[in-house]
Amino acid sequence: MAGPKTELLAPTAQGIARATDLICKGQLVAFPTETVYGLGALATDSMAVARVFEAKGRPSFNPLIVHVHSFDAAEKIGVFDDNARALANAFWPGPLTLVVPMKSAAGVADLVSAGLDTVAIRVPQQPLARDLLKAVGRPVAAPSANPSGRISPTEATHVIDGFEDGVIAAVLDGGPCAIGLESTILTTMPRAQLLRPGGLPVEAIEACLGHALETESSTGKITAPGQLASHYAPTTTVRLNAQNAEASEVMLGFGDVAGDLNLSPNGDLTEAAANLFGMLRALDAKGATAIAVAPIPTLGLGRAINDRLMRAAAPRGQA
Ligand code: TXA
Ligand code: MG
Repeated sequence: MAGPKTELLAPTAQGIARATDLICKGQLVAFPTETVYGLGALATDSMAVARVFEAKGRPSFNPLIVHVHSFDAAEKIGVFDDNARALANAFWPGPLTLVVPMKSAAGVADLVSAGLDTVAIRVPQQPLARDLLKAVGRPVAAPSANPSGRISPTEATHVIDGFEDGVIAAVLDGGPCAIGLESTILTTMPRAQLLRPGGLPVEAIEACLGHALETESSTGKITAPGQLASHYAPTTTVRLNAQNAEASEVMLGFGDVAGDLNLSPNGDLTEAAANLFGMLRALDAKGATAIAVAPIPTLGLGRAINDRLMRAAAPRGQA
């Protein structure tokens, strides 16, 4: 399916106009959000959505997040109860995805939600993403812009490196992503439940709701296929909670535990999150037998970091 060369678009009005034009024509355009780069396609165009799965080599049961410019646009697609409305009001635009019942007149291609009667919706904050979504004026389905099972891209070059030239029409270059972890995914129906930890800390959500969140591990059933253990995997094996590397390994440090690279020498979890995918990618390229990773505390963004690392460390072939 490789067509003409993939265009690298500058973060200018002209670049946004070109990206808008390509998306409206049903082409795939990768664009920056504050979490990770998304591989965007017009959500109302089932062929365009199909090309997303094709490009990613993604298992087709894995539904996509729909990106819109505003809450008003989100309400045309999904049904928001009081909790969902309160969360959208508190955290949009931002790194939160809400899974809500889909409106029948939404016009969103079935493939987007892989046949589910719910839809995952996000209003990103990154200015280029906002300008693009406003200009497109229709919902844009976008998974992370990486081949399925690989690390999410946090820079335009990661996207370019992931796909054969021409498989995607263009990449809008917004520089590195500020948060560097995917959005936190939450459903509120029938009750608030965390489907994927991510860039918005659970503590902030619990403070908004006024009570603790139920997690999927507490119910044992998988609602978001992204929860499958080996979804986010570098090519190299990952060994967790390491204090130092064996002879054939490379080491990803954190805080006082040194390594070939260190997620945050000061032990700052926000900095660690922003560095996570880029550093895993760099270490993955070194051809070691394994990437040994220092212990990361399980609080705030540390939860999402550990979630990603545990998936990377899980035996392959589960997703
Ligand atoms: O930060 C992000 O969320 C990035 C940027 C590009 O927005 N996107 C992203 O998309 O991480 P993706 O496709 O890599 O992950 C989307 C997750 C998947 O785990 C998928 O299963 C889940 O969202 N999902 C989508 N629709 C769903 C639904 N209706 N019910 C449950 N889970 C859903
Ligand atoms: Mg992904």
